[in-house]
Amino acid sequence: MALFLSFVRVFSIVITIIMSHFGQFDARTSLNVLSFGAKPNGMVDSVKAFSDAWDAACGVADSVVIYVPKGRYLVSGEVRFEGESCRSREITLRIDGTLIGPQDYNLLGKKENWFSFSGVHNVTILGGSFDAKGTTLWNCKANGYNCPEGATTLRFMDSYDVKIKGVLSLNSQLFHIAINRCRNIKIEDVRIIAPDESPNTDGIHIQLSTDIEVQNASIKTGDDCISIGPGTKNLMVDGITCGPGHGISIGSLAKSTEEQGVENVTVKRAVFVRTDNGLRIKSWPRHSNGFVERVRFLGALMVNVSYPILIDQNYCPGDSSCPSQESGIKINDVIYSGIKGTSATKVAIKMDCSEQVPCTGIRMQAINLNYYGEAAETSCTNVSGKQLGLVTPSGCV
Ligand SMILES: *[C@@H]1O[C@H](CO)[C@@H](O)[C@H](O)[C@H]1NC(C)=O
Ligand SMILES: *[C@@H]1O[C@H](CO)[C@@H](O)[C@H](O)[C@H]1NC(C)=O
Ligand SMILES: *[C@@H]1O[C@H](CO)[C@@H](O)[C@H](O)[C@H]1NC(C)=O
Ligand SMILES: *[C@@H]1O[C@H](CO)[C@@H](O)[C@H](O)[C@H]1NC(C)=O
Ligand SMILES: *[C@@H]1O[C@H](CO)[C@@H](O)[C@H](O)[C@H]1NC(C)=O
Repeated sequence: MALFLSFVRVFSIVITIIMSHFGQFDARTSLNVLSFGAKPNGMVDSVKAFSDAWDAACGVADSVVIYVPKGRYLVSGEVRFEGESCRSREITLRIDGTLIGPQDYNLLGKKENWFSFSGVHNVTILGGSFDAKGTTLWNCKANGYNCPEGATTLRFMDSYDVKIKGVLSLNSQLFHIAINRCRNIKIEDVRIIAPDESPNTDGIHIQLSTDIEVQNASIKTGDDCISIGPGTKNLMVDGITCGPGHGISIGSLAKSTEEQGVENVTVKRAVFVRTDNGLRIKSWPRHSNGFVERVRFLGALMVNVSYPILIDQNYCPGDSSCPSQESGIKINDVIYSGIKGTSATKVAIKMDCSEQVPCTGIRMQAINLNYYGEAAETSCTNVSGKQLGLVTPSGCV
């Protein structure tokens, strides 16, 4: 059996090489993970099969598809997809199957990532369900101590020209998707699901990255649906449904005193259902050279959201050992336009800005937020800007 499998593998590599020689015009080389020893029975670990398939794909100087057929694949450790030495022009990971994490949360929980991509370019992930089985780790965190931090389900580092489409991430141990030091990443048609109370399960986290697009995502999770960290530039988020979750957040910023800014972010057509926050900008009360500049919040529906519009420059969850400085994060040129719905608290618009560097250029237009049919209120300090047309509640700028 083993002999037969290694024969199949060698055979598929030989075919691959032949195709990459002669198939310059159309043929995309296709590699099936089954021929690398992956088992769709949910029981046999497939870490090695996935990384072997990736290595084979990288060796092909052509367009390659790695195909994961229907079935359940146990993946009980980190799978690293490294691109530095890839010869391939483009790699598509086409996944019809479900990848499942191990029952023992320690196996993944002590790694930083479940699936990590570093230094890759021209990579597409098409489809696939990633079920990290995070519940047992969250239970550990809720009840015990000495729990590992947990793994991010899909992480991209130092990569460019990447597309992630039609992916489902279920019950991630920590962040579902994280983008770090990347350029030109498109995330489309993804679904993210984890319960309300699952800790640190941010849906999509972006930092130190440029030219990022997130389109048509449905995110239900225990932390921020989308979190936008320092060094994010040219980000378009369009058509997101969020809830449960903590909303779409720029921040937390001012985690350190030296920090890159967040620049040119647009969030369009977002729907928030029973989230803790809607559109939030948050920074720790710490001096920092970071900043937020040119943000557009265009069109949002709030359904029973605790803080629909929030700028919090005194962010300090848990209220213990907080730095107690004025935040050094300068927030300038932020537009809120076309934001409607219901607030679950009376203060629908709260802007608690830094006294040292007040928020400036805050523009509000076409806003209509109420508190269960009653009038909502604003609470704003150290904010300046302008109000255009109908803004309810008004009085912030
Ligand atoms: C990326 O893929 C496209 C489409 O196949 C191709 O035209 C381009 O040359 C590739 N880029 C690199 C850097 O390989
Ligand atoms: C949005 O994404 C979902 C998958 O999450 C997909 O079924 C649907 O067709 C997408 N809608 C559009 C307009 O692309
Ligand atoms: C701002 O980001 C958008 C994408 O969201 C991009 O099209 C535009 O060119 C960027 N603007 C600048 C000045 O870089
Ligand atoms: C709004 O959400 C709160 C919890 O945040 C809940 O208690 C309340 O029943 C919800 N109201 C409606 C009308 O959905
Ligand atoms: C900031 O807000 C505080 C509290 O409302 C106020 O006392 C202070 O004068 C404001 N500072 C500036 C620079 O506007």
